[in-house]
Amino acid sequence: MITCKEMLTPEDQVWAEGVLKKFIAKMPEVVKRNEGKMPYTTDENGRYDDRSDLTKFPKYCDGKSWWTNGFWGGLLWQMYVVTKDPLYLNAARRLEEDMDDCFREYYGLHHDVGFMWMPTAVNDYKITGNEDSLRRAHIAANFLAGRFNPVGKFIRAWNSYWGDHNQGWAIIDCMFNISLLHYAAKEMGDPRYQEIAMMHADTVIRNFIRENGSSNHIVEFDPATGEKLKELGGQGYGVGTSWTRGQAWALYGFLISYINTGAERYLETSCKVADYFAGCMKDKDYVPIDFDQPAEPAYEDSCGGVIAACGFLELAKVMKEQGKEEKSQQYLAMGLKILKNIDADRTIWDQSCDAVVQNCSASYHDAKHHFTMVYADYFFLEAICKLNDTGIFTWEA
Ligand code: GLY
Repeated sequence: MITCKEMLTPEDQVWAEGVLKKFIAKMPEVVKRNEGKMPYTTDENGRYDDRSDLTKFPKYCDGKSWWTNGFWGGLLWQMYVVTKDPLYLNAARRLEEDMDDCFREYYGLHHDVGFMWMPTAVNDYKITGNEDSLRRAHIAANFLAGRFNPVGKFIRAWNSYWGDHNQGWAIIDCMFNISLLHYAAKEMGDPRYQEIAMMHADTVIRNFIRENGSSNHIVEFDPATGEKLKELGGQGYGVGTSWTRGQAWALYGFLISYINTGAERYLETSCKVADYFAGCMKDKDYVPIDFDQPAEPAYEDSCGGVIAACGFLELAKVMKEQGKEEKSQQYLAMGLKILKNIDADRTIWDQSCDAVVQNCSASYHDAKHHFTMVYADYFFLEAICKLNDTGIFTWEA
């Protein structure tokens, strides 16, 4: 089994070790300062918010069931594997237990349960064997399987509290959520979960991935007949454009499907998206929100960058294992380019900001751009762990 670390030059190994040391130096104070919180973003003073605060976020879908809440747990588990410091285990466990309220409330839950419970409960079970964590993973997987539309063969995105207009919506992001179904299939020995995950992924290949390797964010199907109705712009610049984080979800998500199933079509799709992404990045030293956005304002999304970088690093390994040396080098170089640009100009390593990665943007047409997002820190750390041959592969069944 090839590791990312052994593919690096000695200079790149030193750089990657240096970044990991910066995480190790920064995180203990951040974790202590934010005890009991479910962080998403930092305020003007650089301090994390708290999505578990029901006085500020009384609606569960924005609060305790906010889709990014599991990433803080994922970051804590990565740090625990790296350092073995119980500070991280205790904080991760507390968050995971606090998230049980989401199951009790139920109505705030959505398609992103994979993002919520893979980095938390599944990592906990993989690392410690905690049986309570396994039960949480089962509950979440069954919930996700229940969102499958068997006629259209897709997992429904979002809920009716935004109106009934979205019963037929599917989104590229779910290429990550289905890793929970692969995990459930393996853990329970029940192929139904894997079948649902693969049917969804095949629908995405047919209906989301364009000829040039770019991906739609949202596709609307008729929920009763399964007929494809239209493509929607979602969080990118517009209809038909390439929201970079969506490209990253596709690039890395299809690779995870390949890793979890061995089906070559998922690897081919991941490479197709990766080649498109790399082509768009040729003359850029930052990742925009959308590859088709106007040149000015030069809005960035470092978060899409770090997710894509994780995918490029894993793809480099797979290509090397298959003897495709040149492709492996290209993907490795692209992953490193993105990560180094972020490390150099888009990080804060002192305690003035709780988050590390800067210049993230949730959506092109939001009023606010260039802020911090906890999942950018998670994926940046995941990438740096890969380069140091440490951490845990959260998305592997
Ligand atoms: N899953 C939604 C996003 O990437 O913003």
